[in-house]
Amino acid sequence: MPFSLESWLRDLSEVRTRPRPYRNAAVSFRTAGQPDSKTAEHRDSMVEGLRLRADRAIETGLNVFKFPAAMIPGCDLLTDSGTTTMTMKQWSELLLGDESYGSNEGYFELKQQFVETFGPQWQTANPDLENVFIFHQGRAAEHALFSSLGTLLGARGKSSDDGRPWFVIPSNGHFDTTQANLEANGFEARNLFSAEARQKDQAARFKGNIDLAALKALLADPATRDRVPLVYLTITNNTGGGQPVSLENMTRAGELCRTYGVPLLFDACRFAENAWFIQQHEPGMGDKDVAEIVRQMFAHVDGFHSSLKKDGLVNIGGCLVLNDSGLLVKRFPGLRSQVSIHQLTVEGHPTYGGLAGRDLKGLVEGLKTVVRQDYLDYRIGQVQRFGAQVDEACGADVVIKPVGGHAVYLDLDKFFAGTKLADSDFPGVGLTALLLVAGHRLCELGVYAFGRYEHGREVGPKPRVNNVRAAVPRLTYEEQDLRAAAEAIGVLYHNRDRLPGVEVVYGQDLPMRHFVSRFRFKGG
Ligand code: F0G
Repeated sequence: MPFSLESWLRDLSEVRTRPRPYRNAAVSFRTAGQPDSKTAEHRDSMVEGLRLRADRAIETGLNVFKFPAAMIPGCDLLTDSGTTTMTMKQWSELLLGDESYGSNEGYFELKQQFVETFGPQWQTANPDLENVFIFHQGRAAEHALFSSLGTLLGARGKSSDDGRPWFVIPSNGHFDTTQANLEANGFEARNLFSAEARQKDQAARFKGNIDLAALKALLADPATRDRVPLVYLTITNNTGGGQPVSLENMTRAGELCRTYGVPLLFDACRFAENAWFIQQHEPGMGDKDVAEIVRQMFAHVDGFHSSLKKDGLVNIGGCLVLNDSGLLVKRFPGLRSQVSIHQLTVEGHPTYGGLAGRDLKGLVEGLKTVVRQDYLDYRIGQVQRFGAQVDEACGADVVIKPVGGHAVYLDLDKFFAGTKLADSDFPGVGLTALLLVAGHRLCELGVYAFGRYEHGREVGPKPRVNNVRAAVPRLTYEEQDLRAAAEAIGVLYHNRDRLPGVEVVYGQDLPMRHFVSRFRFKGG
């Protein structure tokens, strides 16, 4: 048969598995408890590794935050925040960092990049008043915004007759640091979860949406509207593992806010992942670039803050950015100078904020990379494949659907259904402790993390939340790593009747107790 290049091209085009869109250019080997080959001692050394981790898990009070990262041979899925593997281009930018105290090179590049990424309205209009505030991470930006706004409004001293804060800040789902910062400054953080988000088993595409009817009810009545200084959308909504908000929902929320003269802001940590979901699942958006969708999203808001440790693709960084001609600045003309004073007092000069000059350069490069189609296809595809692998390893439907952008959530009520374990056994904590022993780190976000101990008894989260989260770091793991984690979860699921409960040895009554508590296995 004569050689036909064309027929080869046809045949080869049938390969369905796409390679990763990047290659590793630097790796570090982990040795802890990791046998290097299948030698005769393989099994012994596996068991030895398991035993070492079990001893250390017990020593560190079964608290995943206190377990040494260097002893984790598998997947560290504690968070996707600040755990990104940077690209070689980002590393090279770090070497080019300009460490001048005032107006370093990275500062100008970052401001230009913000305009390119988010749109022309984020350009500074007033040379005397900064509109881009750089912080060391997301919660520092939240603190700056709410302490400044609280001061301008006198929020801390103002409450309604029932003793609740006078000012209410509604959202599709406040992240816990946002809520803590709001409450510390005299605001009520109110979640207006959409109906789809509240229905556990419904696999709706945009579970991160805000409940527009509830928002309208709040804004249409002048008596409640006067108590709402601004409205929030968290994109993606961290609750439920990064559930996206649709462009339609953003548009409608923006229209409502403008109708009633109330500013709208984004908590924009995972903006690129949110844009990808819009591209994939929102009617009419399939042929748009992610970069273009991002600019469309940001056209609806008057400001945003972000932990750049997520979609900034960096290990440290945060920002607060205000639209100089937006409603927030119009409504609170003193806000920019108040934030600036706060920033100068606790972070640094506005031209570097809480970051080194080199960090700013790495961030600029990260913002260029994060909207790449091949990157996002692979990134979110990997998280979704991991979710399917977990269900498959368990032979059951234990993962919350649909899987979001950055994490897989195990539904513990499903996982432990039919066992004798009760909430008071904190089975999610026991599960994460045994997963540490297996070599993987996940995090309980359920009745322990969100519950409280009051007047000698446990009060569970309302509405009930009972999950374990596996957050996937960006550009870090290969499929085999995640398959190993899924398999370990499967082994524990198949033996769930034997999983131990835990009791709290220290910290049950402390705020944010899951970060510091110590536990021990019951009957251990
Ligand atoms: N907003 C959202 C939606 C977040 O997910 C986070 C952090 C923050 C704000 C605060 O940012 O950590 O830079 O101060 N989320 C991490 C997580 C910690 O694991 O989900 P930060």
